[in-house]
Amino acid sequence: MVGRSAEKTATVADELERQGHPDDHREVERHTVDFARLDDVRALAATLAEQHRRIDVLANNAGASFPRRTTTVDGFETTFQVDHLAGYLLTRLLEEPLRAARGRVVTTSSFMHRIGPLPRRVTADPPRPYSGMLAYSRAKTMNALFTRELARRWAPDVTATCYTPGAVATSFGARSGGLSGLAWKLGLSRSFRTPAQGADTLVWLATAAEGWRNGGFHADRDTAPAMPWATDDRRARDLWQLSADAVGLPA
Ligand SMILES: NC(=O)c1ccc[n+]([C@@H]2O[C@H](COP(=O)([O-])OP(=O)(O)OC[C@H]3O[C@@H](n4cnc5c(N)ncnc54)[C@H](OP(=O)(O)O)[C@@H]3O)[C@@H](O)[C@H]2O)c1
Repeated sequence: MVGRSAEKTATVADELERQGHPDDHREVERHTVDFARLDDVRALAATLAEQHRRIDVLANNAGASFPRRTTTVDGFETTFQVDHLAGYLLTRLLEEPLRAARGRVVTTSSFMHRIGPLPRRVTADPPRPYSGMLAYSRAKTMNALFTRELARRWAPDVTATCYTPGAVATSFGARSGGLSGLAWKLGLSRSFRTPAQGADTLVWLATAAEGWRNGGFHADRDTAPAMPWATDDRRARDLWQLSADAVGLPA
């Protein structure tokens, strides 16, 4: 279990331990990390790689949307870093244990990637003028492009998929401000999916033997269409290079 808050992470990890089979009691490891700090991500990756020679599934799920433009300590716009770059770095640094397990990387994207095209020349810069929703849409497009390029580069050892959970009644909207926050205030979230329903496709992608497509976009336990800017091989290659440069790794 990886989370930003030690307390929340412990609550979920304790719950998982309680749900485990009584004859097979395993401790759920707890790690905390702030994706707005790349050094935190590097430290997490070093700990995980030291403790696990094999990693079967890495779920890149952390994400957020920010109504006002902010910059991380690493100098990147926060949505770009938290929703894409940190997961990219973590995945790259876990290449060895993921390959050793012939593992899977499952990334949580969103139907919101449909909102705005990612420019042909991919950059880490947010939209101008800044819009939290457009910055989020771009970052969620990056999740799909990252998945595509990762699948191409690490095949056949590692498979990579992404998915949209649909509109889910989590803490997301209440925190995001903007239109999502408004939907929450208006009570629309009552018709949203539960967190368990939202997570269903993630669990399926992590465990199902077939039905998904390596490098592909998914929803509701099936492959799903994504916008052209999220399935463009050139943008996917450019994003990989840009991200490698940003975190100081060779492409
Ligand atoms: N809810 C929806 O309708 C919806 C729709 C499509 C896609 N998604 C995607 O689903 C994923 C999960 O979101 P959610 O709906 O479950 O929202 P959530 O309840 O706000 O959960 C987001 C998670 O990301 C973590 N996180 C945020 N900023 C972080 C940071 N700087 N460092 C480390 N962790 C950080 C949060 O940790 P803290 O609790 O400590 O903040 C929390 O665990 C996100 O990628 C989101 O983009 C959600």
